[in-house]
Order: sequence, then C-alpha cells, then structure tokens
Amino acid sequence: MSNPIIVALDVPSVEKALALAEQVAPAVGAFKIGSELFTSGGPDIVRRIRATGASVFLDLKFHDIPNTVAKSVAAATRLDVQMLTIHTSGGPEMMRAAEASAQETASSLGRPAPLVLGVTVLTSMDGNELAAVGLPPNPGKQVERLAALAVSAGLRGLVCSPLELAAVRQLLPATMQLVTPGIRGPGDAAGDQKRTLSAPEAMAAGASWLVIGRPIYAAENPRAAAEKILATLSAP
Ligand code: C5P
Repeated sequence: MSNPIIVALDVPSVEKALALAEQVAPAVGAFKIGSELFTSGGPDIVRRIRATGASVFLDLKFHDIPNTVAKSVAAATRLDVQMLTIHTSGGPEMMRAAEASAQETASSLGRPAPLVLGVTVLTSMDGNELAAVGLPPNPGKQVERLAALAVSAGLRGLVCSPLELAAVRQLLPATMQLVTPGIRGPGDAAGDQKRTLSAPEAMAAGASWLVIGRPIYAAENPRAAAEKILATLSAP
C-alpha cells in the first residue's frame, strides 16, 4: 500500500508550508494546499511543493459553470497536481466537464490524469442550513444523492467525512477513492472537528486517503507525529 496520509498545509505562509513539507515529506503520501495558502502563495506554492517530488492535493473546491470549471481543472492539471476538488452540487454537466478536462489535459501532457474529487455536503451544514438554501433538511440523504450523482457523472473519487464514510463506501463501486478528513488519534485534541475517526478506523471504514492537519503540523515534532500515525496503519 502506498502511504495514504495527506498533510493539510494549513499554515499562514509559503515559508512555513515549505519548511513543514520538507520536514515531514518522507513520512507522508501528499500535501493538501487549500484556498488560504493558495490565495496567499499563488500557483508558485504548488510548483515549489511539486519540485520537492511530493504529490499535491489542490483543494480549491471549484463550483461554477461547466466551461469555467473545465478551464480551472485544466489549469490545475497543468500545475501537475495529483488531486483536486469540485463541488458535486454544481451538477452532472459540470462534473462531466471537470473529469473530461482532467483527462484531456493530462493526456496532452503525457501524464496520468489527476483525481477529480467531488465534495458533497459541507460538514458545516446541518439540516437547518440545508433547509435555508431550499434543500431537504437531511444531510445524510443529500450526501448519498450527490455521491451517486458523482459516480454517474464519471468522477473517480469523493471527499467523505468520518460521519458518512461507512455508509457512502457501501453505496459506491469499490474503485471509487474516498478522501477523509477529521482524523484524530486517542490522545489528540478534536479542535473544531465534531466527529472523528482514528487513522486505522477510517481505513477500515473504507477510506483510501486520510487528510490530517493539526495532529501533524501542530505537533511538537511533526515528522515523528506523522511516523507514529503511519505505524498505526501497518500494525497487524
Ligand atoms: O487540522 P485537521 O486535521 O482538522 O484538518 C483537516 C483538514 O481537512 C483541514 O484542511 C480542513 O479544512 C479539511 N476538511 C475538514 N472537514 C471537511 C472537509 C475538509 O476538516 N469536511
């Protein structure tokens, strides 16, 4: 098994992100660059992380008309990211356009296509929030609906919270890759994460990749923290 740990580079500056990436790279599989770091560091931060040989998950959650999303996905593919996110609520046509753009752009560059991951319902949205935007007030059902839509639109992966992982895994083809945040070990502070799983629990529930932020970057020794989590995954 390749290393499923993706470290979220949720740090305020490019310098801090690069230093963290360099320190923990040997113990992890990839780095997640989100909208805060990308907005401050620009595409250069992606190039600099890629230049170290590490894989990049560009988590910008594109949500726009199909043509614009396709062009954004093409730009991300040219940056040579290995994973990126789009909102499944943008609809089937938008998802198909994103996947086609990833495939076509990568093929023209002679590279494997990045994994286009669908985001279903943000975990910050509960029934009341869904009702406020005119949707049925049942987050679990909405996640299932959007997950099925993502599969039929040809996406090969989804972002999936620990809350919904086991149920979503059961509904989907086994080839669908599930990327799960909200990972906490027994001694870790939950922070603002309401429902968490440990790394081995999430893998057992069907995760393909684990996004881990604070338990690694806020640790006294981030490299040791990453190695410790990795060791829990190879234990018999
Ligand atoms: O520090 P922590 O391990 O909680 O970081 C988790 C990362 O995953 C953060 O970058 C956060 O934005 C992201 N994320 C999440 N929950 C979701 C989707 C993404 O925690 N439902």
